Amino acid sequence: MKVSTAAAPLLSILPEANFLVDPADFCCTALQATSLRDQVIYPTSAAYNDSVSVTFAANARLSPSCIVQPHSAEDVSIVISTLAQTPCQFAVRSGGHTTWPGAASIEQGVTIDLSTMNDTTYHEDKGVASVLPGARWQSVYQTLEPYGVTVPGGRSGAVGVSGFLIGGGNSFYTARVGFACDNVENFEVVLASGAIVNANRTSHPDLYQALKGGSINFGIVTKYDLKTFRHETLWGGLITYDNSTTDQQIDAGVDFTNNIHNDPYASWIGMWGYNSVTGQNAMFNALEYTKPVAYADAFAEFLKIPNTTSTMRFASIYNLTMELGQTPGYRYIYTTGTYRNDATVVRKAIDLHNNYIEKAKADVKSDYWAIDTMVQPWPKLFSQRSVEKGGNVLGLERFDENLIQLLFDFSWDNQDDDALFYRLGESILEELDDFAKSIGADNEYVYLNYADKSQNPLKSYGKENVEFISRVAKQYDPDGVFQVQIPGGFKISEV
Ligand SMILES: Cc1cc2nc3c(=O)[nH]c(=O)nc-3n(C[C@H](O)[C@H](O)[C@H](O)COP(=O)(O)OP(=O)(O)OC[C@H]3O[C@@H](n4cnc5c(N)ncnc54)[C@H](O)[C@@H]3O)c2cc1C
Ligand SMILES: *[C@@H]1O[C@H](CO)[C@@H](O)[C@H](O)[C@H]1NC(C)=O
Ligand SMILES: *[C@@H]1O[C@H](CO)[C@@H](O)[C@H](O)[C@H]1NC(C)=O
Ligand SMILES: *[C@@H]1O[C@H](CO)[C@@H](O)[C@H](O)[C@H]1NC(C)=O
Ligand SMILES: *[C@@H]1O[C@H](CO)[C@@H](O)[C@H](O)[C@H]1NC(C)=O
Ligand SMILES: *[C@@H]1O[C@H](CO)[C@@H](O)[C@H](O)[C@H]1NC(C)=O
Ligand SMILES: *[C@@H]1O[C@H](CO)[C@@H](O)[C@H](O)[C@H]1NC(C)=O
Repeated sequence: MKVSTAAAPLLSILPEANFLVDPADFCCTALQATSLRDQVIYPTSAAYNDSVSVTFAANARLSPSCIVQPHSAEDVSIVISTLAQTPCQFAVRSGGHTTWPGAASIEQGVTIDLSTMNDTTYHEDKGVASVLPGARWQSVYQTLEPYGVTVPGGRSGAVGVSGFLIGGGNSFYTARVGFACDNVENFEVVLASGAIVNANRTSHPDLYQALKGGSINFGIVTKYDLKTFRHETLWGGLITYDNSTTDQQIDAGVDFTNNIHNDPYASWIGMWGYNSVTGQNAMFNALEYTKPVAYADAFAEFLKIPNTTSTMRFASIYNLTMELGQTPGYRYIYTTGTYRNDATVVRKAIDLHNNYIEKAKADVKSDYWAIDTMVQPWPKLFSQRSVEKGGNVLGLERFDENLIQLLFDFSWDNQDDDALFYRLGESILEELDDFAKSIGADNEYVYLNYADKSQNPLKSYGKENVEFISRVAKQYDPDGVFQVQIPGGFKISEV
């Protein structure tokens, strides 16, 4: 254990209470008094603007009093031990892909921006890739490709590694290797005390387990050691269809989900998308096969459906993940639910999708807006793979059936529509949940990485996992710095 002492001299200059200046400015001044003074940036600088605009969703681009950019775990230790001695509030941001405001940034406080810590190093002897917290998946894939290896990560290359890994992480490889978090061999973590520890199977095993899904409740992760596997050329891409194919797509998707265990190389994301510029409501399939085989039988039902365009090809994981993604800089809300893998539920979701396009049209002020509804398999096989690797805290192993996940994704460009789309995003989910309950196809699980602020994903992990996460959080952060001073993200104290 290394404890940073760099912040100690600061204690003597902190006033007891009553700030003479704006409390938030005081937090920045406290950081200014450390060796990191040149890494603290203010709203008057271009660097501050650049840092804020890294955040994916425009509505999540808050304006902290200052931003600090650590370059190492030691820097992170100085930042956290300094701020923990103050009443200051702060936020932690890596890739900034959480869509809700305040998850990874803050107004009137300090944002710790980890984006300059973004290297990936491959250790051939151990078959492990060490990935720093500010990396994006595209750079991880690109670095590993020359070695002929890869890791399970984002299906959109721009997504950050940190939020993804500590919230679970669904990749094209989940049916083969479990969730991305199941493939972390070691987390290097800076605790609230400033101590830098390794959490792995033999060192702080409880913290290791809790970080596999427990998100920002224990510490700031400064390095992920990920188990690699052989990278093979994939067959994948994006296919578009007329939305009149909807019923066939739903049947094919439900069937695909029930058969993933027969061919875990195959993966599918189904998307129904409307956008106001084209006025089109179309259907898209992202099909990816994680070895170089075209037209695998696992996709047969989808391949029978007539398409309008297709980019299906042989390509690397880097290439395929550069194709998928969404445009940063719009305003967004994501809401998500998990259900029994049942065609009736998906049909209802798409009926709601069609219906909500009309609801939005009636009130919208934005020039650009879009509604995307995504369907993803969440079969029993996924949690079996997790268990084989030692397990995580998502709690999925308690469900005995194949599940399907719905993600409602609204985007728009006019701030005046925030209230409208927040309301639509929440109510479309509520309607689907009510329908699923009425036919007994509901499921408690909520995927944290897609969840909105209005949802409670940690609670959905089940009572035992909630108790475990609470205990580990109290053990590694006895003063509750991550619960109280870092208000952003999903908090175990708010379950
Ligand atoms: C376009 C797009 C595509 C996506 N694709 C996928 C996908 O294919 N599969 C999937 O599973 N998910 C996907 N997601 C969801 C994604 O997993 C989450 O948005 C995730 O939080 C992104 O991580 P980040 O580092 O960019 O997030 P951030 O918003 O930076 O952080 C997320 C949370 O983690 C905390 N945090 C950040 N860094 C650290 C750290 N080092 N230590 C401790 N806490 C930290 C933050 O405070 C915040 O609460 C996608 C999201 C988008 C917007
Ligand atoms: C930062 O962005 C704001 C708002 O977009 C702008 O007014 C300001 O000029 C920018 N500052 C710098 C230094 O680029
Ligand atoms: C790391 O971040 C810096 C800017 O902070 C950027 O210039 C560089 O390209 C990034 N490197 C990788 C591997 O993404
Ligand atoms: C686990 O942590 C210990 C203590 O820091 C370290 O010596 C060991 O190498 C780590 N194991 C792995 C697999 O990283
Ligand atoms: C296709 O889209 C239109 C326009 O949104 C909608 O009215 C129709 O119901 C959709 N068709 C199907 C099969 O979902
Ligand atoms: C898309 O349609 C074309 C033309 O009908 C067909 O040749 C191709 O196989 C289809 N591709 C997929 C992936 O369905
Ligand atoms: C992906 O590969 C295709 C060729 O198959 C190429 O045209 C495209 O530019 C590549 N994309 C990236 C991001 O490398």
